[in-house]
Amino acid sequence: MPRGRAGRVGAVPTHHPAAVIILAAGQGTRMKSKIPKVLHTIGGRSLVGHALHAARCLSPAQLAVVVRHERERVADHIAQIDPAATIADQDEQPGTGRACECGLEALPDDLTGTVLVTMGDVPLLEAQTLADLTRIHEEAGAAVTLLSAVVEDAGNYGRVVRDADGNLLQIMERKDAEEHRRLGNEFAHVLDITEYNSGIYAFDVEVLRSALRRIEPSPVTGEKYLTDVVKLARDEGRLVLAHPLRGPDLVQTEGVNDKAQLAELGRILNARNVERHMKSGVIVVDPATTWIDVDVSIGQDTVIRPHTQLLGATTVGEDAAIGPDTTLTDTSVGDGASVVRTQAEHAVIGPRATVGPFSYLRPGTVLDEAGKIGGFVETKNARIGAGAKVPHLTYCGDATIEEGANIGAGTIFANYDGVAKHHTHVGRHSFVGSDSVLIAPVDIGDGAYVAAGSTIEGVVEPGQIAVARGRQRNIDGWVARRRAGTRTADAADAARARGARHLDETTSTPTQES
Ligand code: UD1
Ligand code: CA
Repeated sequence: MPRGRAGRVGAVPTHHPAAVIILAAGQGTRMKSKIPKVLHTIGGRSLVGHALHAARCLSPAQLAVVVRHERERVADHIAQIDPAATIADQDEQPGTGRACECGLEALPDDLTGTVLVTMGDVPLLEAQTLADLTRIHEEAGAAVTLLSAVVEDAGNYGRVVRDADGNLLQIMERKDAEEHRRLGNEFAHVLDITEYNSGIYAFDVEVLRSALRRIEPSPVTGEKYLTDVVKLARDEGRLVLAHPLRGPDLVQTEGVNDKAQLAELGRILNARNVERHMKSGVIVVDPATTWIDVDVSIGQDTVIRPHTQLLGATTVGEDAAIGPDTTLTDTSVGDGASVVRTQAEHAVIGPRATVGPFSYLRPGTVLDEAGKIGGFVETKNARIGAGAKVPHLTYCGDATIEEGANIGAGTIFANYDGVAKHHTHVGRHSFVGSDSVLIAPVDIGDGAYVAAGSTIEGVVEPGQIAVARGRQRNIDGWVARRRAGTRTADAADAARARGARHLDETTSTPTQES
C-alpha cells in the first residue's frame, strides 16, 4: 500500500470474503442536497469511496454496490474510482433486504462462503474492523454475524435482542419496539436496549440467499428488512452472533444522514489523518486547524503551520515547511521547500524552493530546485528553472524560465491576445528588469537583459540588452509655469534657493546616451 494511504497496513486480512455488497440505493432526503448522499466527500474522498476503499482492503473476490437513487451519477462515479466493482440495480421494491437481494443477483450464482454487507454512507468503518468481523464469523462457523454497538441511548437504530444467556435472538426496529412498549407485551423492554445493530454484517451466502427469498415485506412500510435474516436463520437452528464495538470505535458505525453529521464525521476523519501523520514524524503545529485529505503523503520533520489544508493527491517531502494559511491541492512539494500563505493547484514545487507569501500557483506550475516564487505572484503553466527567481508582484503564464534567471518586480507575462495564448521563453541567467511587459510570443536568449520598464515583443539575443521604453525628457521651469502657487511650486522654489543641490549631485543626466 502506498505511503499515506488511509487504510491501515495491519488490515491485510487472512480471511478473504467471497464478496462485499455495499448498499447505496437509499435516497438520503435529510441531506437536503442536489448531490446524491454517497457522493458527498470527507477527507477528499466520497462517502461511497470510503466504503469501497475499506472493502477493497480485504481483497474480496467480488464487490457489488447497490444503486437506485440518482443511479447514473452514482454509477458513473463508482466506475471512475473502482472500475472493477459491479453495479447492481435495485428495483421498485424498497428495503435493505431487497437491496441486498439485488446485490446478490448481480454476483455469480455459484458464490460460496462469506458475504459482507456494508453501507455506502458509513465512511469511517475501518478495513481492520471488517477483517475482524470476517475472522470472528468464520472461526465461529456462524451463519450471520453482525456488528453491534453499545451506547447509552440506541436512538432510532434497530435493537439487538438477546436471551437471558446473551444469545442473539433478533433485531427489532425502533418503530416495532415502540409498538411492543405500547402493547406492554413480552417485548416491552426492547425499546430500552442499549445495544444496536450497525447494519454491517457477515453472512454465509447460502443462508442469506435462502432467507432473503422468504422474507415478507413489512405490511406497514412495504420494505423487505435485511434484519429479518437474523431471526429466520436462528429459527432454522443456525448460529447467529452480534459482535459489539465499544468506546472510540463506535464512530466507525456512524452513518451520514444530514450535513451536520457530514461535517462531524469529516472532522473526526481529519483528526485521525492528522494524528497518523504526526505519529509518522510530521510536525503539526495546530492539529485543530490543519486539514489533511486521506491520500496525502508527508515526509518526516516537515512542519505544517496553522490553518493549512493539504488536499487531494498532494505529496510533501521531508524537512519542508508549509503554511501558515496555505492550501495545496494535488500539488507536490520537494524536500526542504518552504511554502508560506499560498494557494496552489496541480503544481510542482521542487526541493529547497521557496514560495510566498501571498502567491497563487495555478495548474502546470513547475518550480525547480531552489527556485523562488515570491510575494504576490500568480503563475500558470509555467516552468521556473533551478535557482530562478520570480520574487515580487508578477503574473507569469505560459512561460519557460531557465535556470538562474531573474524576473524583476512587477513583470507581466502578457500571454493572451484576446484570442489565443502564447508562450514566453527566458534563457539561462537572464535578467528581466522591473515593471516589464513581455508580450508573448517572446524569446529572450541565455545571458540577456531586459531594461526595467520595457515592453518586449519578439526576440532578444544572448548577450543583448533590450531597452523598449519612452526616453525620459526633463522640462525646465514647468512647475513654476503650470503649477504656480501650489505647495509643489513652493518646494521647487525653496530647493532652488538652497542651490539646486539635487542637480549637482546627479551623476548622469537622463537624456544622455551611453
Ligand atoms: C438499518 C437497519 C437497522 C440499523 C440501521 C443502522 C434495517 C431494516 N434496519 O436501518 O437495524 O440499526 O440500518 O444504520 O435494515 N438502502 C438501500 N435500499 C433500500 C433501503 C436502504 O440500498 O431500499 C441502503 C441505504 O442507502 C443505506 C442503508 O441501506 O446505506 C441503510 O438504509 P436505511 O434506510 O438508512 O436503514 P435504517 O432504517 O437506518
Ligand atoms: Ca440510516
